[in-house]
Amino acid sequence: MNLLITGGCGFIGSNFVRYWLEQHPDDQVVVYDKLTYAGRRENLHDLWDRPNLSLVVGDIADQALVRCTCQEHGTELIVNFAAETHVDQSILGPLVFTDTNVRGTHVLLEVARELGVRLHHISTDEVYGHIPDGHQSVETDPLAPRSPYAASKAAADQLVQAYHITYGLPVTITRGANNVGPYQYPEKAVPLFSTNAILGELLPVYGDGRQMRDYAHVYDHCTGIEAVLLRGQVGEVYNVGTGREMTNLEMVDIVLETLGQDHSLVRHVTDRPGHDRRYSMNVDKLRGLDWEPRYDPRQAVAEAARWYAGNRWWWEPIRSGEFRDYYERQYAGRLAGKVEG
Ligand code: NAD
Ligand code: DAU
Repeated sequence: MNLLITGGCGFIGSNFVRYWLEQHPDDQVVVYDKLTYAGRRENLHDLWDRPNLSLVVGDIADQALVRCTCQEHGTELIVNFAAETHVDQSILGPLVFTDTNVRGTHVLLEVARELGVRLHHISTDEVYGHIPDGHQSVETDPLAPRSPYAASKAAADQLVQAYHITYGLPVTITRGANNVGPYQYPEKAVPLFSTNAILGELLPVYGDGRQMRDYAHVYDHCTGIEAVLLRGQVGEVYNVGTGREMTNLEMVDIVLETLGQDHSLVRHVTDRPGHDRRYSMNVDKLRGLDWEPRYDPRQAVAEAARWYAGNRWWWEPIRSGEFRDYYERQYAGRLAGKVEG
């Protein structure tokens, strides 16, 4: 099969490319990526010399380039990971989230419709919004996003469904829980806390730290997407996670324990505006495709922390580069005890 993997140089996309080529070594994979700050060639450093893997640097909102890339490579399936993905960045600068996540996904749908290509879209549990205790989101629940990031992902998710209903486009959607694992940009909580702990820097925990997340290993997201691509029903949406949550404070404990650091590094800082307290998904529909997660969330967080301890070559250049500006903007006031907006 000929696949176009958009956002394949990012965290989940690169893990998926690696997983897919291991499982389907004869497939042709084209990574289509804008190489934003989060998209990094080195995430696939060991694979670029393979004859069946290539990179096109481009924007998913560039219709002519997407069309011509699909035509040139005989694309049969687009898997869309490309997105702006960090909630805090969406609060600081939201417009690019609409450009990429909404318009970019819409352009992919138009090209897929024009060329008759199947499209699989990577959505998120954040589209369901904050989930009250006692409930787990199922795929038919209404979408109720609460951040600019989540709203842009919900719009994309609904456009994908609309193209199936209106044009009969063969689409599938997976809604993933919080992923952890190798090559996650250190703006996200687990790699941020892991790398800060390794450096002996403070861990900025938003608010009381009792927000709940399903920290799923990226490997299980990859196997879940594969299950949907191979055995899922066209037009359907599938949740992908473990169905088990922990608080951020529990996640911090696992990171510190794994890395042999103590709690004096933890700082409670001003909360993220509009911070969702809890995400929780029911994953029985995906289990119906003969899929099971391999990792418990506790194992997933510990394994991720160990990866950052063993792979400083990957994150040290990021942390000493443009990331510093973002870190200052996001955390300097918070860590100094100033109240942020
Ligand atoms: P990431 O930020 O690590 O990577 C995003 C990738 O998309 C980068 O390679 C970037 O260069 C590329 N990209 C951004 N804008 C682009 C554009 N306009 N055109 C082409 N490429 C562009 O993200 P991630 O964490 O790997 O997330 C991948 C997907 O999974 C996203 O759609 C995200 O919403 C979704 N998701 C993420 C999580 C998570 O926990 N990280 C959970 C559920 C769903
Ligand atoms: O749930 C899926 C989503 O998971 C994906 O769609 C997003 O792309 C991905 O970024 C992630 O969103 P979150 O906002 O849940 O993840 P993040 O790693 O930013 O934060 C995890 C939790 O930790 C959240 O409750 C906020 C908190 N946090 C985060 C940071 C960066 C802190 O307490 N301090 C921090 O410095």
